Amino acid sequence: MEIDTKTNVHNLGPATRIPIGEGRTFYAGGQEIAVFRDRKRRVYATQGWCPHRFGPLADGLVGNGEVVCPLHGYRFDLRSGVPKGHACETIRTFPVSLNETGEILLTLEER
Ligand code: FES
Repeated sequence: MEIDTKTNVHNLGPATRIPIGEGRTFYAGGQEIAVFRDRKRRVYATQGWCPHRFGPLADGLVGNGEVVCPLHGYRFDLRSGVPKGHACETIRTFPVSLNETGEILLTLEER
């Protein structure tokens, strides 16, 4: 992993390592970060663990701009982290994009 310490941007490598519609856990800045890729090949990044009972969010399903926690099915908006249809706390989300060669660029500042 390459890190630009001036901008706090972490290059997590090729997005193709994340299957479409799924997520993967990365370790960056001492944190577990879940990075997702949707069917339109957009990428999203959130905290790694569900605030309900610590479900691994990267193992959740992705669709309609949401992730569904694999443990109890709670849904969260992938851009804002806002819970959908339940009262769990908002999850942290992080700016993430792809560079010109399709590598994931994660900035470790919350949106
Ligand atoms: S741990 Fe995520 S919904 Fe329960």
